[in-house]
Amino acid sequence: MGKVIAIDGPSGAGKGTIAKLLAGELGFSYLDTGALYRAVALALRGKGVAPEDNNEKLKTILRDMDVRFADGKVFLNNKDVSEAIRTPEIGHYSSVFSARKVVRDFLLDIQRSASRHSDLVAEGRDMTTVVFPYAWKKFYLDASVEERAKRRYLQLKKKGINITESEAKKDVVERDVRDSGRDIAPLRKADDAVIIDSSSMTIDKVLENIMKVVRANN
Ligand code: DC
Repeated sequence: MGKVIAIDGPSGAGKGTIAKLLAGELGFSYLDTGALYRAVALALRGKGVAPEDNNEKLKTILRDMDVRFADGKVFLNNKDVSEAIRTPEIGHYSSVFSARKVVRDFLLDIQRSASRHSDLVAEGRDMTTVVFPYAWKKFYLDASVEERAKRRYLQLKKKGINITESEAKKDVVERDVRDSGRDIAPLRKADDAVIIDSSSMTIDKVLENIMKVVRANN
């Protein structure tokens, strides 16, 4: 097993950007677990699954599904879906379906196996609490709702997706409620995680703070 740096935090806190940079700096692999949940949501929606459908239906579809994250890309049945998963609609459904135990169980080993043969920076909602509770280093990356909504708005705008600032804020708030309020593996701060609020910090400053913790008493 490799060393794991686990990062959790709400939607739009900057986990992806930071985790990627950190992995590059340290020569670790990078795992975006949100991308895995998004790929599952894309597949389920593609098969016409609705949020109220029963577990058996989900299980049947998951049984034939191959989801993988490699080299910064996510693959669904060997097809690169890295772009297709980045729509507000799939963001919404990934949050909805991620509350289902069958989906979380399906992705658990896929996530853990990413650290089997290499050191890893993994980011998501339950990295520090459920997937890698014995991680080498743990972080909880946070930012104010306003700042996260602004980042989400700019991110989607850049991709040419039509969204208003207030829609971006509504989306961020809805996802906070759902991701933190669900029964299984809700987003929460692990007792032993270092909390970093990036609301008024540059990316470089956040990275510097994280590197200080990583380098301290290894
Ligand atoms: O990080 P993201 O926005 O791409 O994640 C999409 C959704 O997937 C998020 O709203 C909740 C879910 N998710 C999760 O439940 N557990 C994780 N470890 C990562 C993401």
